[in-house]
This record gives sequence, C-alpha cells and structure tokens, in this order.
Amino acid sequence: MFDPYSIREDFPILRRTVNGHPIIYFDNAATSQKPRSVIDAMKKFYEENNANIHRAVHTLSQEATELYEEAHKEVASFINAESYEEVVFVKNTTEAINLVAYSWGSRLNPDDEVSVTLMEHHSNIVPWWTLSKFRNFKLKYVDVKGDGTLNYEDLEQQITEKTRFVCVTHVSNVTGVINDIKRISKLAHENDALLLVDGAQSAPHMPVDVKKLGVDFLAFSSHKMLGPTGIGVLYARRELLEEGEPFLFGGGMIKDVCYVQNKGDLDVSWNELPWKFEAGTPNVCGAVGLMEAVRYLRRLGMENVYIHERNLALYALERIEEVGGIRVYGPGKETERCGIIPFNMTGIDSHDLALLLDQFGIMVRSGLHCAQPLHQRLGLKSSVRASFYIYNTREEVDRMVDILNNLSEGLKRH
Ligand code: ALA
Repeated sequence: MFDPYSIREDFPILRRTVNGHPIIYFDNAATSQKPRSVIDAMKKFYEENNANIHRAVHTLSQEATELYEEAHKEVASFINAESYEEVVFVKNTTEAINLVAYSWGSRLNPDDEVSVTLMEHHSNIVPWWTLSKFRNFKLKYVDVKGDGTLNYEDLEQQITEKTRFVCVTHVSNVTGVINDIKRISKLAHENDALLLVDGAQSAPHMPVDVKKLGVDFLAFSSHKMLGPTGIGVLYARRELLEEGEPFLFGGGMIKDVCYVQNKGDLDVSWNELPWKFEAGTPNVCGAVGLMEAVRYLRRLGMENVYIHERNLALYALERIEEVGGIRVYGPGKETERCGIIPFNMTGIDSHDLALLLDQFGIMVRSGLHCAQPLHQRLGLKSSVRASFYIYNTREEVDRMVDILNNLSEGLKRH
C-alpha cells in the first residue's frame, strides 16, 4: 500500500516548521527532500568506507570502488539499460546534456539540423543554441499548443532527413505535460536522427525504461529523486558511447598514456565504458546517496509513485480552480500529467504570491522556472508552480487552497 503519511516519517526535514507553520513542501520539481536512509548511507560512507576509487589496492579503496560501481548497476537496472557501462555519472542533467552537445553535437555541420521544443528547460535549449552558433547548423523550434502540450503536427513537419538530433523533455517542468517519447523516437529514427531526452522531471516520478521508450540519450539528476545534489546521469546506448569522444580529459578516463621516445609524442588510449567519460575523482559519496535513493523509490514502485502524484495533481486542479481569480495553465484533467501545477492569481505578481504562501510555511517556486520560451509561448510574464512528490498529501493541497481563498477574498476587498 502506497501511504504518503508513513513515507513522511522517513523525511526528517518535514518535521520542521517555517514561520510558525509545519512545512508544506511543494517545490519538488526544483529539488526533492531526502529520506533518512539516503542521509545515513552518505554518513556511513564517510565514516566507514571513504577513499578514492579505481586508483589503489588498499581495502578502503576497494570498498569505495565496489560501492561506486554498484551505484552504476543500480541506476542501470532502474532505467532498464543494457548494462552499467551505459550509465555515465555526471554533475547533473545540465552537464549530461552539455556532454552530448559537446561530444556528439560538435560534429554537426552547416547542412545539419537540430530540433528542440519550445517547452524545454533552458538546459536543453541553450547548449544547442550555443553550439549552433559555433557549428552553423540550423536549430529548429517545435511549437507547443496553447494548453502546453506538444504540437506533434509541427514536429512531424520539422523533422527531415537533415535532422541529426531531436532534443525533447520527457515531462515539462512547468506544466507536468508528458511527451509521447515512443512516437517521437519513431519519427527521429525514421529520419536517422538521434533522440536526446531530458528525463529530469520523469525519472523521479514515473517508470522510465530506455529500451521501451527508444531513447539514444537520457539525462537526469539525483537531487530531484531523493538523492544528493552534485550527481546526475547520462544514459547512452553502448555503440554511441563506444564511438563518442570524451568531454573531459585527465585521470581515470585513460587506459594508457605512454611517452614514445622516437616519436617525441604520447600514445594515449581511453578507458573502458563508462569510465572513459568520467575524468577526475568522481562524486563517490553522491553515488552512494543516489544508489540508496533509487532503492527507496524501487521499494515504493515507480508505477505507484506516478499514480499517487497524478491523483494528487487531479485533486489539486479541481480544488485550485475553485479559488476566485486563479488561472491554472496546462492541459485539462483528461490529459495524463505529472504532479506539477502552474498558476497565477489576478492582481498579484508570482513572486509576491510565493512570498505570501511562504508566510504560511508553503514552499512553491515562482518566476519563469528556467523555461522562458514556454512562458512566452503561453503569453505569461511568470507563474507560480506547485510541484508534488511522494510525501505530499491532499490535506496539504487543502491547506494551500484555504490560504489562496483567503488571499483572493482579501484582494477583492481592496
Ligand atoms: N529545473 C529545476 C526547476 O524546474 C531547477 O525548478
């Protein structure tokens, strides 16, 4: 039985009060809170196993190496990758996307095209835009409809035999809209293009199977899925990683660096996968935390996580729409979505509304959510965003709605 009330017991921070009120944490799309088991696993690592990895034969180094490799295996199994060799640990989703743009995207030429959508987080637009200025390829922007869903007709028209990359988010970080990745994958592959999926808002919230979805690259972050900050994942198909060039160079990513006297030069070869893409001392403790976070989510079951959040989102949509002067964005209740609700209240700026909610211990994000093109497309200056996770409850939604109702009544009187 999925029970958010017992799940809450595992999250020490949720016992805190803010401004005299129990915390209601509705900023999960920005980062999630951490369960005791993740905090404990990281503490245990530093107290018992801390050492550098892949570099020494002593016991601590072997233990740390085993944990680090085990973390890759846990993540590979979580997303149904073929093996841990397809899982590269990076800093976060942004770094994963930059790695793809730098290593594979830098081969693009003026005759090539890349398609991104107008609903992307800046991290899946700006690297491609920057690269297009260096490599002179054409960057195309797939349209979004007024309800925040992807315009698939526009996508179909835009992808041609010139398209080399299609870069799309799985779930919008503003509206919670879920894109049909299987459909996009078919279209991209029919045109011999590679598909990069930003999974920052999907991997923490729903089952994600890289094989079923047919993705070539998938990027996501640990900190949005109960794990620590500073570690994220790039999944890529093995063939791509085998033929791809590293992004960062140095220790750990090489097999041999041999000075050849008669050439006056080095012979260098890269390490095995995935280490070839992980130069320098990695975030070993972060990997331990991420592994524990993945185990926590798997115990709950990702299908259950998704159902809980979707139901909470449907309930919130119904309740928030009751409030006078509130406008909610995104698709209606008939469309499948994750637990993210953007809204505004007439007569009040989004940051002011978020500050007022904070007075009651309610944490939401306000502004553009690193998705300015989508706000422009929807005709919005900014929005307030409530985003849910496994520990949020209907009572918390009710509490926010009561406060919004009071504010709305107060605004009417002035
Ligand atoms: N990408 C995060 C968000 O949407 C930070 O808030």
